[in-house]
Amino acid sequence: MSEREVILEAKDVTKVFRTTKGRPLTANDKVSLKIYKGETLGIAGESGCGKSTFIRMVSLLETPTSGEILFRGRNVADLKGEARRQNCRHVQMVFQDPGAAFSPRMKIKDIICESLRNFNLISPGEVTAKAQELLSMVELPPEYADRYARDMSGGQRQRVGIARALALEPDLLICDEVTSALDVCVQKKIVDLLLKLQKEKNITMAMVCHDIALVRAVAHRTAVMYLGNVVEIVPGPEIGAGELCHPYTRALRDSIFTIDMDFTKPIESIESEAPSPLDVPAGCPFRNRCEHCTERCALEKPKLRTLAPGHQIACHLYDDLPEYAGEE
Ligand SMILES: Nc1ncnc2c1ncn2[C@@H]1O[C@H](COP(=O)(O)OP(=O)(O)OP(=O)(O)O)[C@@H](O)[C@H]1O
Ligand code: SF4
Ligand SMILES: [Mg+2]
Repeated sequence: MSEREVILEAKDVTKVFRTTKGRPLTANDKVSLKIYKGETLGIAGESGCGKSTFIRMVSLLETPTSGEILFRGRNVADLKGEARRQNCRHVQMVFQDPGAAFSPRMKIKDIICESLRNFNLISPGEVTAKAQELLSMVELPPEYADRYARDMSGGQRQRVGIARALALEPDLLICDEVTSALDVCVQKKIVDLLLKLQKEKNITMAMVCHDIALVRAVAHRTAVMYLGNVVEIVPGPEIGAGELCHPYTRALRDSIFTIDMDFTKPIESIESEAPSPLDVPAGCPFRNRCEHCTERCALEKPKLRTLAPGHQIACHLYDDLPEYAGEE
C-alpha cells in the first residue's frame, strides 16, 4: 500500500457558499481525501451532502474557501488563467445529464474532439478518425460521428460524454451521478462500460453517487459523506459490512435496494430527515439521527481516525480503539 501513487489529494478542503439571504452554508467542511493511481474511489452520501461541491473543487470548476488541492503533490487550488486551464487537462468530468452537457448545434465528432482541438492536440483533418476511434472505445458505431446529440438515446449520449472526457487521456476521470438520469437497464450497461474501461486502461476514477449499491459495484474504496463531512472511508466493496462501521454508513447500507438494483424491494431509510446544511449541529453532524448518540457527541466533533488498513471512521463509538499505526 505504501507504494501507491497519489494522483490527487484534498487537504482540509472547505467550501462556504453565501446563500441569497447572505447566510453562510458550509458545503464541505475540512474534507481530506486521497485518490490513488488506478483506483476507483466511490463518493457516496445523501443528496445535498456536498459530493458535487467536492468534485467541482477537485476539477477546478470551483475554488475552495480554504484548504489545498494537491495534483501530483502541487497545490492547484489557486491556479489562475493559462496555468489553471492547462491543469484542467488532467482531470476530466462526465456529468449527470448527458443531454444538457452538449451543444445542440455541434456534431458528435466535434463534441468528442473539442478539448483535443482546444489544446491543439489534433488538426481539423484528424477529427473524424479520432472521433471514430473514441466512439469505438465506448462501443458506439463510427457513423455516429456525424450525428447530433438530439438523435441519440440517453445511454448513447452518456457514452459520448465518457468518450469526450477520455479524449484527453486524463489522469483522473470524475463521474458525477452519471447513471441517475438513465433507466435501470441502461444504467447497468454504462456501469459495465466504465468497469471495463477502468480495467483495460487502468484509469483513476472518482465515482460520485447517492446510490450506495452502485458505488459498491464499481469502487475499490468509498468515502461516505454526511453534511459536508467525510464520516468514513471504507476499503473494498463491502460498504457497511463488518463490525467497524459508522452508524450513518450502516443506515445507508440498510436503505439500499440491492446490488442488482432491484427496485421492487422496499426501501428502509433512516427515520428522521438530515438537518439543513445551514444548521449543522455542533459536535457530530449525524447526532440528531444517531441511536448511539451520547453527551460527548454533542460536545465534540469526532475526528476521522484510521482504525484498520485503509479504513477511517469519524465516530466517538470507536474512541477506545487505538489508531492503526501502519500505512493508511
Ligand atoms: N453555488 C451554490 N450556492 C449556494 N449553495 C450551494 C451552491 N452549490 C451547492 N450549494 C449547496 O451546497 C450543499 C451541497 O450541495 P452539492 O451539490 O455539493 O450536494 P450533492 O451531495 O452533490 O447533492 P446531490 O446528490 O443532490 O447531487 C447543498 O446544500 C447545496 O444546496
Ligand atoms: S459520534 Fe456519536 S452521534 Fe456521531 S455517529 Fe458516532 S455515536 Fe453517533
Ligand atoms: Mg451532486
